[in-house]
Amino acid sequence: LQGPEVVSGRPRLSTEVAGLRLERFVANASGVLGWSREEAARVKEAGGGAFIAKTVTPQPRRGYGWPRLYPVGYGIVNAVGLANPGVERAAELLREATAAGIPVVASLAATEPEEWVRAAAALEEAGVAAVELNLSCPHFKGGGIELGSDPRAVKEVVSSVASTLRVPVVAKLGVSDRLLEAASAALDGGARGLTLINSVRAMKIDVYTKKPVLGNIRGGLSGRAIHPLAVRAVYDVYGETGADIFGVGGVYTWEDAVEFLLAGARAVQIGSALIEKGFIVFREILDGVERYLWIEGVKSVEDLVGLAQRR
Ligand SMILES: Cc1cc2nc3c(=O)[nH]c(=O)nc-3n(C[C@H](O)[C@H](O)[C@H](O)COP(=O)(O)O)c2cc1C
Repeated sequence: LQGPEVVSGRPRLSTEVAGLRLERFVANASGVLGWSREEAARVKEAGGGAFIAKTVTPQPRRGYGWPRLYPVGYGIVNAVGLANPGVERAAELLREATAAGIPVVASLAATEPEEWVRAAAALEEAGVAAVELNLSCPHFKGGGIELGSDPRAVKEVVSSVASTLRVPVVAKLGVSDRLLEAASAALDGGARGLTLINSVRAMKIDVYTKKPVLGNIRGGLSGRAIHPLAVRAVYDVYGETGADIFGVGGVYTWEDAVEFLLAGARAVQIGSALIEKGFIVFREILDGVERYLWIEGVKSVEDLVGLAQRR
């Protein structure tokens, strides 16, 4: 290999997604990091194109009992329980994080309609570049996937928030029988983009204690095991709607990331692999994708978006 620089310029890893311009198409997924400027700066330094903050709720939440995380080899089962300091404190932290030099995306979950609107306004006021609505947490009573699998409720929440914010709203959805309808409802409600998918309802039982492992008993599965589920979700939703999509779920290697782009995602988020491999995962993926683009003679990651839809 002669290296990309000797050809006519290096392949481009930048992307536009949901009204955001990202220098690089990879970001952390919500929940694996917090809200701080240090974490946002670390993502940038590692090559990430955006910092996605952990989900906040209108009021502080302590989260569920321990253990909250259990690695199962092919993925991670977790039930953190949306532990967070509440939107007021999180907004203070996020205001500082916006100085890190990459777009900061806040993530919000609530149950009551007026709370969604009020909390989203506080996050926008803190200067974030976009607000991701977590409509898919697998274990958040009254919100989460219960809400996100009801298209009418999705449209109501998204439109109430999107109509009051200036910054883009991104709806994060999970797998359910009604994903396509929910995705269309979110877009009808004014979402500029979608994040697909969240962790998938799951649990783990210890064969010797003969009891569920997680403090909360039930949780969500993330990591390698869900990658093909997520690819299908992105492929189907992009094929049906053409929406701007962040692909999330089981991205460990550059091939996983390319698969999401080919399915129709314009950017990729990384959760479990960041926990298991550390920040180096961003560079590994970016270097691998850059080499792939060069070998394939493709100028930009944006030229890969949705190519697998063609037959
Ligand atoms: C420990 C942990 C905490 C998470 N917390 C959140 C969260 O607060 N909000 C959210 O939208 N998703 C949360 N997720 C889901 C991830 O953002 C992501 O959608 C999911 O893990 C699939 O991606 P992955 O396979 O790369 O981990 C969490 C995942 C893990 C493993």
